[in-house]
Amino acid sequence: MIAMPRSLILLGCAATLIGAGAWLAPPSRAAEEPKPYTVKDGNKVDEATYKGYLYYGDLCMRCHGPDGLGSSYAPNLTDSLKTMTKQQVEETIINGRKNVNSANDKVMPAFGFNQDAVDNIDNIYAYLKARSDGALGRGHPEHLNQ
Ligand code: HEC
Repeated sequence: MIAMPRSLILLGCAATLIGAGAWLAPPSRAAEEPKPYTVKDGNKVDEATYKGYLYYGDLCMRCHGPDGLGSSYAPNLTDSLKTMTKQQVEETIINGRKNVNSANDKVMPAFGFNQDAVDNIDNIYAYLKARSDGALGRGHPEHLNQ
């Protein structure tokens, strides 16, 4: 049997570990996140998604339009959520955003100090994700438990 230098064996192990780590932690992509909503019969939703619908209407609809479909002022969020991660969406809600490169003055306000927005950020995300995935249609959803 040929004796292998100890350092080489260790190197081999380290390379395997690094390889396994890369395999276990793929880059975060919106499509790989678990579904944050439940929708049955096209318009019956769980509590979180239902609350998200109500708070979306309260806080976001005046700019992003009914059903998340966008307006002349603000983008269509059913499109945005196809590529944005949950973290990116939530950071945008908390911190707001101003597109400094564009000629217009359009601003996404920061909601970090709005208690309703902070408390319901997961709910709003669930509603918008259900809309973006095409799981939930337009209009007022029904509550699953009613
Ligand atoms: C006063 C109008 C206004 C309100 C209210 C508003 N937004 Fe926005 N939002 C915008 C504008 C304008 C942009 C685009 C900003 C830019 O281009 O930098 C935007 C961008 C976004 C984006 C990023 C979209 C993308 O494709 O990059 C998300 C996500 C978002 N808003 C979510 C929300 C949510 C959720 C709410 C409610 C809690 C909300 N917004 C309320 C105006 C608004």
